[in-house]
Amino acid sequence: MKMTKFADIKGFVFDLDGVITDTAQFHTKAWSKLADQLGVQWSTELQNGLKGLSRMDSLELILKTGNKENDYSQAEKEKLATQKNNLYLQFVQTITPADIFPGIKEFLDELNQHGYLMSIASASKNAPTVLDKLELTDYFEHVVDPKTLKRGKPDPEIFIKAAEIIGLKPEQCIGLEDATAGIAGINAANEVSLGVGSPDVLTEADMVFEDTNKITLANIEANMNK
Ligand code: BG6
Ligand code: MG
Repeated sequence: MKMTKFADIKGFVFDLDGVITDTAQFHTKAWSKLADQLGVQWSTELQNGLKGLSRMDSLELILKTGNKENDYSQAEKEKLATQKNNLYLQFVQTITPADIFPGIKEFLDELNQHGYLMSIASASKNAPTVLDKLELTDYFEHVVDPKTLKRGKPDPEIFIKAAEIIGLKPEQCIGLEDATAGIAGINAANEVSLGVGSPDVLTEADMVFEDTNKITLANIEANMNK
């Protein structure tokens, strides 16, 4: 656990896919279909490793897993990534506000009531569309544009920017993530890392919640005082 005290926290930096809603399953479905098509063996390890990675980094990891990293030209890779994204976007069309994970809307309201700042640190270029489908756009005035990033997760850049756009230092923020790459980025940014998912996977997180209903300010404070 870092030295940060709960009282120092002024803002929350949210990953989107797999933290606010289960779009992680849509990314997984679309990537595994492409992996099948490319003849690359799918595994839980690959599935977890892909979480949080940018679109092109994800494709590169899939190709590398199948020892096919030199088999495609840049133009062919762009085409494959677009194909995956088109399928992903079909899934995204089905999203409604009912798909927000249990307790997350209540947590966002609690943060607003207590004057915490919040921003989105998602690698996804589709984040604004997903937020719109969830009717959460008004909650997130500040969204890091992944096109402005030099390096993707696990690099801390996106989490540092997400603190910056709400006028805070990283040490004043808690970052929420479902991906090991994201937790690594939050830790490297020196923010407090809150994992959403399995403690067996998110072993480097400062705290982990398997049940999104349990993500409340009181429970976070209790975890930081441990
Ligand atoms: C992340 C997801 O949030 O965004 C990854 O965890 C995804 O699975 C990445 O690949 C990029 O998303 P997009 O929508 O820009 O292809
Ligand atoms: Mg995620």
